[in-house]
Amino acid sequence: MSKTIIVSNRLPVKIIHEGNSFYYVPSEGGLATGLSSIYKEGNNLWVGWPGQNIKKEAEKLQITSDLKKENMIPVFLSKKLIENFYEGFSNDTIWPIFHYFLQFANFDKNLWDAYVEANKIFCAAVIDVAEDGDTIWIHDYQLLLLPQMVRKKLPNVAIGFFQHIPFPSYEVFRMMPWRKKILRGMLGADLIGFHTYDDMRHFLSSVSRLVGIPNSRGRIETGSRIIEVDSFPMGIDYNKYSITAASPKTIDQEIKYRAALGNQKLIISIDRLDYSKGLPKRLEAFETFLNKYPEFQEKVSIIMIVVPSRDNVGQYKDLKEEVDLLVGRINGNFGKLTWTPIHYFYRSFAIESLSAFYRMAHVALVTPMRDGMNLVCKEFIASKLDKTGVLILSEMAGASKELSDAILVNPNNNDQMADAIYQALTMPEEEQVLKISIMQETLKKYSIDHWVNMFMYRLGHIIDVQKSMATKILDEQTIKTISEDFGKAGKRMMFLDYDGTLIGFQPDPQMAKPDNVLLNLIKKLSTNTKNRVVIISGRDKETLDAWLGNLPIDIIAEHGFWLKEKDGQWKPITKLKSNWKNDIRPVIEPYVNRTPGSFIEEKDHSLVWHFRKVETGLGELRSRELTSHLKYLSTGKNLQVLEGDMVVEVKNADVNKGRAAQKWLNTFENDFALAIGDDWTDEDTFKSMPDDAITIKVGNTSSAAKYNVPTHKEVRGFLKILVDK
Ligand code: UDP
Ligand code: G6P
Repeated sequence: MSKTIIVSNRLPVKIIHEGNSFYYVPSEGGLATGLSSIYKEGNNLWVGWPGQNIKKEAEKLQITSDLKKENMIPVFLSKKLIENFYEGFSNDTIWPIFHYFLQFANFDKNLWDAYVEANKIFCAAVIDVAEDGDTIWIHDYQLLLLPQMVRKKLPNVAIGFFQHIPFPSYEVFRMMPWRKKILRGMLGADLIGFHTYDDMRHFLSSVSRLVGIPNSRGRIETGSRIIEVDSFPMGIDYNKYSITAASPKTIDQEIKYRAALGNQKLIISIDRLDYSKGLPKRLEAFETFLNKYPEFQEKVSIIMIVVPSRDNVGQYKDLKEEVDLLVGRINGNFGKLTWTPIHYFYRSFAIESLSAFYRMAHVALVTPMRDGMNLVCKEFIASKLDKTGVLILSEMAGASKELSDAILVNPNNNDQMADAIYQALTMPEEEQVLKISIMQETLKKYSIDHWVNMFMYRLGHIIDVQKSMATKILDEQTIKTISEDFGKAGKRMMFLDYDGTLIGFQPDPQMAKPDNVLLNLIKKLSTNTKNRVVIISGRDKETLDAWLGNLPIDIIAEHGFWLKEKDGQWKPITKLKSNWKNDIRPVIEPYVNRTPGSFIEEKDHSLVWHFRKVETGLGELRSRELTSHLKYLSTGKNLQVLEGDMVVEVKNADVNKGRAAQKWLNTFENDFALAIGDDWTDEDTFKSMPDDAITIKVGNTSSAAKYNVPTHKEVRGFLKILVDK
């Protein structure tokens, strides 16, 4: 039976070493708490680091055997790798860059080498337990190279990758010296997930601009594979938090805490000690609040839980000092014998204690500078059984995209945050209940189970798509079988793309005129009364007419907009407006001015920017820029932006080759259909063919076609065989 293997840097438990014994306690952080309830099903496994430097072999064996009972496989990291891979490249290079703390990023080749080495160690651990047919689900920024490493060793597994932290804008990501290697590492996955649409957008733009692979509606084609990229906002185990909030242990804790704290209004703040969490700015905002609204002094306190994290990384040590000082200053300035403004705990708490704090708090103050998702705010909402309470949430947290009924704040805006605290503490109860109810409904529906199911469903789906696109090389035996079937058929319909399919690419599109050999070949095919030859091209009708108009063939021009039957007249497939061109042309023109050798071609229902004659590299660069510009502008306009071979084309989305081919198949009788094409506009033709049709893709990339041939030369060779049938 196939299984799912979760791989993350950290296991959901970490080792505590006491004397000669080991204890295992839950790990910190959203990834571990989020996934910990779902990995134990069936024969699933979780591969990861148990959070300690274990040196002795005997101890490693004992830990391995202890964890095996819990479906966990430990990956042991040496002291050096902990320093250079975990503390170093992961948390001193990637973490700051991806959270937009550029000034903290440490670019050091030694750290990068350790990152590569550690990813290889994880790869070996995965290969050890994985089998064909398994699903490998890799998590987070510590393992960005792992998808590609696993793919190379295990081509027959499904690989999903999920990133729990933000993916920065291209402008920031491009600063990393190892940026392309990182992207290629991630592209080893079949499905790549992020918490938000913005993260996904940033990733796609980096792939397109740095690796040069375009995307269409979240799909990336690498040549041999299709990869899906999507956003999957992670939820929480809603029932766990609502049930814990009602448990006797939680209620006991609450009674104890209430007795100690007296009749204060409480604000809760819970985070790992991390500069991305915005702790100093949060404390400063609370200080402003106490100054601006002095009537709340002695009436409200913050319970600030700061969980120790990555304390060997320099920036984290500095932050600890900064937070200690600020807490000391505020408590020193405002505190009274009977009132402590900030109750500060530098440690972690068990879930029942957290739950009691969530229940008691009037306000949760969750104000990270950047956060991939943030689960604390979701846990607070789920624990509010009486539905009273107010969430103040940073708009920089992924969760703000879902929890729009929170009071959303910019963590850099001190006044706004202070006012938000005031607004929260004075919000009428009915309003609180209304907002919490709405957010609870969202969180119930988009729970952690929903997140896992959605991710797994999409992974399964993309694997099916890949299988359906898997093509076979058109070998001699297959050609023989096809030509025999072709010979037996009475009415044969052949859809042939022109550029790249019947003729090779030329520096100037006007030079791709048919040679005599080709003209003869088409002539012989089309004069056989059993054949109906249809040239189906993106070119304009005038050129096709001039080049092929004398032959007894049908022609479909401009990707299916213009149609002409042999001996007939050109007719448009449908009546379409083309006034959109007036808006789009001025967008493309500056690219012509800036890019010597490029030009605009205007077809009846599309505009094409050609860059075949542009200096190598520059054309590709500009085309990516232009494509993303055009995609942005064409949203909601029913336009489609196509990246063809050395062209970018904008056309009306209602026109495509598939629709035109379908019209032919429905109009003219046939008992054998053949379609040959080379670029992705031909995919529409392939998809519109009947199941028993022969479809051939020119070039070795994935396709909906059944067969592949390397170049137009093999196409001509194949057609020549059909001439005599
Ligand atoms: N948490 C915990 N013990 C504590 C404080 C927090 O287990 O004492 C948990 C908290 O319940 C949440 C996670 O740590 O599930 C923090 O996840 P979040 O996504 O908010 O932040 P991250 O640490 O992943 O950046
Ligand atoms: C965040 C990251 C996780 C990480 C966690 C705790 O949630 O996304 O990958 O495990 O923080 O950090 P740590 O460095 O202790 O693993």
